Amino acid sequence: MRKTVLTRKIVIGVINFIVNVVYLIIIFQDPNNKKRQIVMNLGLENKVALVLASSKGLGLACAKGLYKEGANIVICSRSGDNLKIAKEKIEASHSIASNNKIFPIVADLMYEDQIKSLVEKTLNEFGKIDILVHNAGGPPSGPIERITKKEWSNSIELNLRSFIFITEMVIPIMKKQGYGRIIAITSVSVKQPLNNLVLSNTTRLGVVGFAKTLANEYGKDNILVNVVCPGPTLTDRMNELINKMVSDTGKTYEEVEKGWIDPIPLGRLGKPEELANLVLFLASERASYITGTVIQVDGGFVKGLF
Ligand SMILES: NC(=O)c1ccc[n+]([C@@H]2O[C@H](COP(=O)([O-])OP(=O)(O)OC[C@H]3O[C@@H](n4cnc5c(N)ncnc54)[C@H](OP(=O)(O)O)[C@@H]3O)[C@@H](O)[C@H]2O)c1
Repeated sequence: MRKTVLTRKIVIGVINFIVNVVYLIIIFQDPNNKKRQIVMNLGLENKVALVLASSKGLGLACAKGLYKEGANIVICSRSGDNLKIAKEKIEASHSIASNNKIFPIVADLMYEDQIKSLVEKTLNEFGKIDILVHNAGGPPSGPIERITKKEWSNSIELNLRSFIFITEMVIPIMKKQGYGRIIAITSVSVKQPLNNLVLSNTTRLGVVGFAKTLANEYGKDNILVNVVCPGPTLTDRMNELINKMVSDTGKTYEEVEKGWIDPIPLGRLGKPEELANLVLFLASERASYITGTVIQVDGGFVKGLF
């Protein structure tokens, strides 16, 4: 009797062992098997994200990341052609959801009527806005004495006023939903002023002040507001800045690029996806107790403590 029980236990043990081995073989042979991947579920599926200035660079990387995590995304820029290319690039990436959409809208963030129409079109298409990623083109570089009155007012409109205006439109929508995430892309210039970039050094601090005030006033409505600060990151904008310095100083491209890289402890420029990773996290369900912060993604470029 005892021998039969023992034999049965051994047989069951052997069967269990074989089943587990077969299971592991199947999982490890299929690279797409989700059970094999250890993932942090960001909870972004079915969310609606409006990502501004997203035909290229940092905005595009954020839009692509959000799409891959299953969010429906609205991409925007001044150019329909650039948006078409951006949409194709995003579509080529794999989304964890099967039916999330990409909706391109042409809008110049310099103009309030175009921002208004951008928000209205987003609502018509998706019926809600869960996530707003504010981004815009960078202001021109140059020393204080060479910046014109027009450049000052353009930078205030594009880099500061567009943020104030669009959040004024989006906050009532998020309040009604009882949910919202707002993330503003600024620059390390808000922590450490950059040479030759007085417009960025000045107007972006207004974004930080406004974002912190939003975080204070709308936390009770479950609207979380944070600012991210890219350091030198390899995009068209970075190329533009380097080329401008090449023509202003007569140095070579490599010399100017080295000047940007030397103060970075990680010894290289950032990649747009590295900034996007933080934006995705702040937009996610996992960042539910983070609001009112100003976080840099800069390879250690900023030398201050906070
Ligand atoms: N890359 C860096 O190292 C770095 C570092 C710190 C801060 N930043 C800041 O981060 C922001 C994004 O930089 P990036 O490097 O991604 O620049 P980028 O590669 O030049 O891309 C800029 C994006 O903004 C769009 N855009 C420009 N002006 C616009 C407007 N008036 N209305 C709507 N869309 C507009 C452009 O699209 P269209 O041309 O198709 O309109 C493009 O999609 C900038 O403000 C930049 O100053 C960048």
